[in-house]
Amino acid sequence: MSDNRPRRVLVTGCAGFIGSTVIAQWLRDTDWQLIGVDILGYAGLRASLAEVIDDPRFTLRVVDVADGAAMAEIFSRQRPDAVVHLAAESHVDRSLSGPAAFIQTNLVGMAVLLDAARSHYETLDGNGRARFRFLNVSTDEVFGALGPTGRFDEASRHAPNSPYSATKAGADHLARAWHRSYGLPVLTTYSPNNYGPRQLPEKLIPRMLVAALAGEPLPIYGDGSQVRDWLHVDDHAVALRAVLERGRIGETYCVGGGHECANLALVQRLCALLDARRPEQAPHARLMRFVADRPGHDWRYALDGSKLEAELGWRAQRRFDSALADTVDWYLANPDWLAAAQRALATAPA
Ligand SMILES: NC(=O)c1ccc[n+]([C@@H]2O[C@H](COP(=O)([O-])OP(=O)(O)OC[C@H]3O[C@@H](n4cnc5c(N)ncnc54)[C@H](O)[C@@H]3O)[C@@H](O)[C@H]2O)c1
Repeated sequence: MSDNRPRRVLVTGCAGFIGSTVIAQWLRDTDWQLIGVDILGYAGLRASLAEVIDDPRFTLRVVDVADGAAMAEIFSRQRPDAVVHLAAESHVDRSLSGPAAFIQTNLVGMAVLLDAARSHYETLDGNGRARFRFLNVSTDEVFGALGPTGRFDEASRHAPNSPYSATKAGADHLARAWHRSYGLPVLTTYSPNNYGPRQLPEKLIPRMLVAALAGEPLPIYGDGSQVRDWLHVDDHAVALRAVLERGRIGETYCVGGGHECANLALVQRLCALLDARRPEQAPHARLMRFVADRPGHDWRYALDGSKLEAELGWRAQRRFDSALADTVDWYLANPDWLAAAQRALATAPA
């Protein structure tokens, strides 16, 4: 790429868990201008942007990605040369009780954003087109469930089982179609479960931590044998940048977590970490309760990250044991953020 100007990257879902990590890390590690778009719904917290909001290289736009006129205005005013699309309804349980919001944001929002990006792309000159990228951030859940062996890779078939994963799978197809039909320079990544700071306590790890600290029951779906492949959110943000900068247009990349763990073992580990930090409330494992399994609950996910490692030299750097302990420490050290997250969660649709 001949043009050495700092990139201008539009990051949707910038106030969410992964988006806020991407913004903070990329402001620190690059000279890029970052334009964050977020609807600031129940899952998008201003508190998650506290450390970046005054950075002159960061601009926040509070917009719904499904609002075509607003997105067109942002593209024409900000002239980004890349889009990283993270905005989504992301909680599987909510997709079971209210799939409409998932269809609206994850499918309609994706189509609107792709089309706004395409209109913008068509205004660019040759250099601008050569620089432009649209990164679609997807999930291992689009591939459905695995048995005890094997891993998903880039050739795996889409076979989603929940409304959430079905909308993410549909979004992948839309992204592919905008590449094949219109030549938009799209790349797609598939990521496993992320963990780390600033994750809303409706997701497994922070939810268990909040409940355990309050002395409340720790609900374990089914027998807790479901296996997830865990990826630290900092590692994920590094992988996304590698794919954005050096990935091959039109390709898909699996971001392997590299640490498989059954849900029950994970909750036991969290309890042990809390026992060491809050011994007066030990043993926290006494709070564990087995509850009815989630409908359509996928038993195991795991991703083969060898393509990303071979082509772009990326592999996860954080070791699960120490990074999980750091994650617990982050939540214990940030009660104000947790209080803001719980206030936001109270506004979420039932
Ligand atoms: N967290 C994971 O483990 C994981 C794993 C694989 C893929 N992903 C994908 O990564 C992306 C980000 O996930 P996350 O965990 O940060 O989710 P999150 O729920 O924490 O954040 C999503 C963000 O998108 C915003 N948003 C929702 N609807 C919007 C809309 N219509 N317009 C603008 N903004 C909107 C929310 O306000 C929130 O800030 C999602 O696309 C998700 O599917 C997440």
